[in-house]
Parts: sequence; structure tokens; C-alpha cells
Amino acid sequence: MLNKKLYRYFSQTETPFYYYDMELFNESLTKLKQAAERYHYSIHYAIKANANDRILETVKKYGFGADCVSGNEVKKAIEIGIEPEKIVFAGVGKSDAEITYAIGQNIFSFNCESMEEIEVINEWGEKMQKVVSVSLRLNPDIDAVTHKYLTTGLPENKFGIPLLLLDKVIQRVNSLPNIKLIGLHFHIGSQIRELAPYIELCQKVNSIQDIIFDKHGIELEHINLGGGLGINYENPDDELIPDYAGFFETIHKHLKLRKKQTVHFELGRSVVGQSGSLISRVLYIKKGLKKEFMILDAGMTDLIRPALYGAQHKIQNISRPEAQIKNYKYDVVGPVCESSDSFDDNVMLPMTKRGDLVAIRSTGAYGEIMVSQYTLRDKPKAIYSDELKNEKGEPLLVKKTTLQKDII
Ligand code: LLP
Repeated sequence: MLNKKLYRYFSQTETPFYYYDMELFNESLTKLKQAAERYHYSIHYAIKANANDRILETVKKYGFGADCVSGNEVKKAIEIGIEPEKIVFAGVGKSDAEITYAIGQNIFSFNCESMEEIEVINEWGEKMQKVVSVSLRLNPDIDAVTHKYLTTGLPENKFGIPLLLLDKVIQRVNSLPNIKLIGLHFHIGSQIRELAPYIELCQKVNSIQDIIFDKHGIELEHINLGGGLGINYENPDDELIPDYAGFFETIHKHLKLRKKQTVHFELGRSVVGQSGSLISRVLYIKKGLKKEFMILDAGMTDLIRPALYGAQHKIQNISRPEAQIKNYKYDVVGPVCESSDSFDDNVMLPMTKRGDLVAIRSTGAYGEIMVSQYTLRDKPKAIYSDELKNEKGEPLLVKKTTLQKDII
């Protein structure tokens, strides 16, 4: 049952908007911190998942670092106050401007995806009189068992250095005076719901360390296993906080470290995904010949994941919490003039009317950050649970009454 005060607030607010449950977000960060500290693992929050100031400021409070994939993400992390020595920077196509900016900031590690890129970084290092810390992002040839657009560790993907080239790359890197090789980096994909690909990854890392690095006598300071831990989109309330403890325990069990090596992760979706919902109003229930369309005021410009990946998010009619029977079938669509502007087909919901409010769940990650203004649509606003006030200016929500936990 949705908290009444919150529902009243929603019904007086212009839609669509993203609603962030900050209590849940803080809980997720607390659990992550506790689980990581057990093994002294370092966390770099993947800024690409959600770069709102409030979200980043909260992440920073927990002492996490940042994983960036563009120069502007590095800038953002620094503006928010994340220490440069906790910032990693990946990406297959870093521009010269991005490289020089990040070198100037003395970030922890450039996660490099090709020898060509390392050569350019070395040239800039020489010009700027710096020795740049670099990790090799390797493509480990592991199937992450996820959507084909979300897999990154297969030979056909553009990411990382192929293992077959590693020997050659190491020899060349060792000869470059302005590069310091400090670690290995992997990121095999996103929305990974099984632990098996991570176990395979640990095994690959172990053999890479045995075969290649021991041979070259190179000591690496760290191993970065990237992000990718998935979330429960089908039934978010069953798993509002991912099982970080189980995830790290599995890694700890399978990863063989050398002395003094640290382990790093770049989690995005699992950290913030369940804390956000896109709230939208029903504009029309349109009767088609074969279908009934629920036309929302939110569309693919506000949340592109369904159109881009066929992703399914749980859709709930929060105006009819009393209706237990969901015996109406709707195709839930947006107002944009594209056939792919659809959130889901054949969704079973209670009988819905114009003006009802709908929550599209689990949209905290890769939701707002991927908003576009196609067809000149307005950007949705962001609303944070802990900033809401009643008419007297008092906090609207007392603890434990926020959307994710109370919604039916
Ligand atoms: N590290 C690197 C190098 C990455 O490329 C990514 C995500 C992450 C970490 C964080 O992965 P996460 O823990 O969030 O799975 N827009 C897509 C997701 C793209 C992920 C891109 N890289 C979606 O909406 O599902």
C-alpha cells in the first residue's frame, strides 16, 4: 500500500518524474560498504548508471570512488569531491582532451583498452612530464549470459585487449618510459544475474596471473573486476538490495591474489537501480481493434531501456492499491511517434482510467541518465524522498514509509 501522504504529493505533482527513495539508497550503500570492507575490496561507483548530484554526493559520503567512461564523468566526480586517487577511467575511445585532462588530475588508473591508446597516453605523459598509471582492460572471452547489447567480454565486442595480444602488449608497455603498469581490468557485461560468469572470470584472472605475469616477473598492484551485478526487475520488492555479501564471498573464494594486491569493483546498476521509479500519468486508455493501449505521459525519451534492449520493468497502477485483481490487459506505451515507444505488451493490471498514476519500477540506473529530448520533449524532474516537505515545511515522510517498500 502506497503511503497516503506520498500518494497525495504525487497526485499534485507534474508528471512524469523520477522518484528516488533515499532511504533505500542509503541502505543499499551501507550494505555494500559492509560487504566490501569484509574483504578490503575497493568500490568505484559507476557514474554512468546515474550521475545526479544528490546520488553522487550520497555515494561520496560512504567513501566510494568513481568509475568513469568519459572526461566529463571524471570532471563530475572531481567536482563532487571524489578524490582523484579513487577515480578510474575506462573507454575504448578516449579523446586527447579527455586524456590530458585526466592525466592532469592524477587519477588512480587509466583502464586502457588498446595498445594504440597506451601509445597516445605515453606521448601525452612525456609532454606533460608525468608517469601515468595504467591498467590493461583485458577481453577475457567470457559469455556474461545477458542481453547481447550488455555483454562486453566476448571477442566480437569492441572492448578490451584480446588475451592473445597480451604478451606483446606487456613487452611494449614495459618499454614506455611514461607508463606505469599497475593492474588488470575486466568488465564482462551488465545485468548479470548468475554468479557462474564471475567464477569463470576469477579462474581466467588466476591463469593470466600464473602464466603471463609470473613469466614477465611483473608485480601488479591491483585487479579490477568491473561491475555488472544484476538486479531483480521482475519482482523488485523481493530483492530491493542485491546480495553483495554473497557476490563478494564468491569472488573471495575463487580469486587467487598475489601479496599486497587489492581488488576493485565498478558497480552501478546494483547500487542505485532499485531506488528509482519513474512516475507517470495515464493520458488515455485507447481501445484498439485487437488491443487496449494504456498511453502514458512518459515515453522512450524518459526511459529508453524497453525500446533499446526490450527491457522489462515492473509497471504498477499506484492509484488503485485496493484493486487486488489485475484482470485487465494493456499494452503500456508512451506518446512519442515511434512504434518502439512502448514499455511493455499485455501487462495485467487493475482496470485503469485516465489520470491514474503509474510507477515504472527499478529505474534508478540507466533511467534518468539516458533521457533524451527527441521531439523536443521536456526532461523529467527528479524528486528525492528525503527532500519532500508538508505544508508546514516539515519532512513529509517519516522513516520507513517510502515508495519501494509500501507499494503493492
Ligand atoms: N565498468 C565499466 C567499464 C562499464 O562499462 C560499466 C557499464 C560498468 C562498470 C557498470 O556496470 P553495472 O554494474 O551498472 O552493470 N545502459 C545499459 C547498461 C550499460 C552498461 C554499460 N557499462 C542498461 O540500461 O542496461
